[in-house]
This record gives sequence, C-alpha cells and structure tokens, in this order.
Amino acid sequence: MSKQMILALPGDGVGAEVMPAALSVLRSVAAKRYLELEIHEALIGGASIDETGSPISDETFALAKASDAVLFGAVGGPKWDALPFGERPERGLLVLRQGLELFANLRPVQVFDALADASSLKSKLVSGLDLLVVRELTGGIYFGKPRGIETRNNERYGFNTLVYSESEIERIVRVGFESARKRSLRLTSVDKSNVLEATALWREIAEKVAADYPEVTLEHMLVDNAGMQLVRAPKQFDVIVTTNMFGDILSDVSAMLTGSLGMLPSASLGAGTQGLYEPVHGSAPDIAGTGVVNPLAMILSAALMLRYSLNAPDAATDVEQAVARALDAGHRTRDIALGAPGETEVGTQDMLQAVLEQLAA
Ligand code: IPM
Ligand code: MG
Repeated sequence: MSKQMILALPGDGVGAEVMPAALSVLRSVAAKRYLELEIHEALIGGASIDETGSPISDETFALAKASDAVLFGAVGGPKWDALPFGERPERGLLVLRQGLELFANLRPVQVFDALADASSLKSKLVSGLDLLVVRELTGGIYFGKPRGIETRNNERYGFNTLVYSESEIERIVRVGFESARKRSLRLTSVDKSNVLEATALWREIAEKVAADYPEVTLEHMLVDNAGMQLVRAPKQFDVIVTTNMFGDILSDVSAMLTGSLGMLPSASLGAGTQGLYEPVHGSAPDIAGTGVVNPLAMILSAALMLRYSLNAPDAATDVEQAVARALDAGHRTRDIALGAPGETEVGTQDMLQAVLEQLAA
C-alpha cells in the first residue's frame, strides 16, 4: 500500500497533550502492521489565531484537503472567548467539517468491561453497552442563515435558523440505516417533530428512506424523551441518528454512560474515505497543562481513523484491544479513577505507556 498522509491538528488546551499520545500509538501500531504513514502537523483554533490571526489558515485547510485523514485534538479556551463568532477557535473546526463536506459524525459509545463501575449510572444499566450516535454535522442550526445578534427597537435579538433540505436529511439518515444494517438492525431517529417543522420533515424523510431498508426496524423518538431514555435504560438503543445540535447534546450524555467524556472518540465522514477524527471532549482549560488528561478518547479516535480512512482494520483492533487491556490492568486517569482496589491513578504519560506496552505485548 502506498504512503498515506495524515494531518495532525492538536489545537488548544488538552488537545496539545492528547495528540502526541495518539501519534505515539499510531507510530507504534504502524510499525507493527507495516503501514506507511506520513504525518504532518499544523495549527488550528486558538493556537492558529495567536500565530496567524485566523482560527484556520488557508495553508492548514489545503493540507487537510490533501490528506487521507485529519486527526483533531480540541479547540477553544477562555483566552479567545471574547472574539466574535466568525473568528473564534471553534470556527476552525466548523470550517473543516463543512469545507471537507464531512456530514456524518459517528460517535460510538462503548462501555469497557473494566469501567462499568465508573459510570454515573448503575453498572447493570451500562455494562456491555454498545451504541452508535450518528450525528448530522454540516447543516442544521449550526450553519443555518440568517443568524446573528442585532438591535431592533432598542433591544438586542439573538437568532439562528434551523434548516434542513430533503437531500441533507436523506444522506445522513442513510448513514444511520447503513450502520444499523451492519449492527443489530435497529435505528432510532431522534427529532422534535411535535414542535419544529425542520424535524417534522426529518421524520418524513426517515420514513421514506426506511422503505429501502426493510430489514431494519426504524423507531422515532422525540429528543427530550431520548435524553431521558438514555439515562433510564440506555441498552434499548443501538443506532441513533439525529440532527447536528441534538447529536451534540446526546453524544455528551452518552459519553457519560461510558464512565467519562474522556473515553469517547468520533469519526466525521463524507462521501469518500477521507475523514476527521477527534475526541468528543473539548479543550478542558481547567486541567490543561497539568498532565492528568485522559488520552484514551484521542487514541481511540486514531483507531477509528485506521479503520475508516486508512483501510487498516487490524491495526484499529490492535489499538482498541491495547486500550482495553491497559484498563483491565487497572490504569486509570483521574476522570475514571474510583480508588477501588487494584486500580492505580495515572497521568497522561503513564496511561500512554500502559497502552504502548500492551500494544507491544
Ligand atoms: C463537538 C463540540 C463542537 C460542536 C464544538 C467545539 C464546536 O462540542 O464536537 O461536539 O459543537 O460540534
Ligand atoms: Mg459537543
């Protein structure tokens, strides 16, 4: 196989700590599996603002466009909070998602056996949990126009637009059905069709697409109920497909089921094999620089990259198993530590070493 190009964008806060960990794991598994990877690094988010004045430079975008896959850390922090929306660190990520047409965000939620007790829910509710959130990523209220804050009659109004075209809905719902087809043939489409027209259309299109997937059972659920059901009985779900904003919210809820937001990876895909891979967690300014951040969501994101963009499923499985075994051996970063017998609380570096050791074993 020819050389594959990866662009690493550490970004801000803990992004700069988890990215080197993921790259170490990637280099190690690449050597083991004879993969030829060419890894470039560039600035994004606040780090890019400080250096170039923009959250993403044309050069970074061009590098991303030319690469087989993008590994993304996290963006944002208090330093840049006062900037207008179009100039904020988060914009760098949104530009990448939209510019690379990565409309499908896959957020697998898996509870590692070793962590069933670390969840905020009773372990019997989450042990063995394995669900997939398919989030629409390049449309909806995140990108709809008009948007802004403006003064009318001496008062300011903030406004955004929730808009979806039939084709935007159809292509993401199809990703939901295709995913369900590879898993347990159950799909839950989440909307707010009792209040929002855009999502009433969503429900209608989901029904229409369902005719092409007779083997998959489609269920509709209102988003408020879905939030409730996720914390009441999460194992009722297998694949969830939903809008950009509902997916943002429900994936953080789902993350907590696994014990920590620090555990959840994600893949953002478009029509081809190019993808962007990032942890679901953010830049965590409160713990950035202290060496305690959990690198596993970033490492597991690299595993998803190996599977979905680099056509290296065995290497992906190697990484996932190494993570599971590092957890089985009792290594816990602070976010997942319970102080239970057999557990050792470790920092970022030690967790990385534990994964590398398992990978070499
Ligand atoms: C996520 C994040 C982003 C989002 C932010 C950083 C723009 O919360 O990937 O879930 O809202 O999509
Ligand atoms: Mg989010």
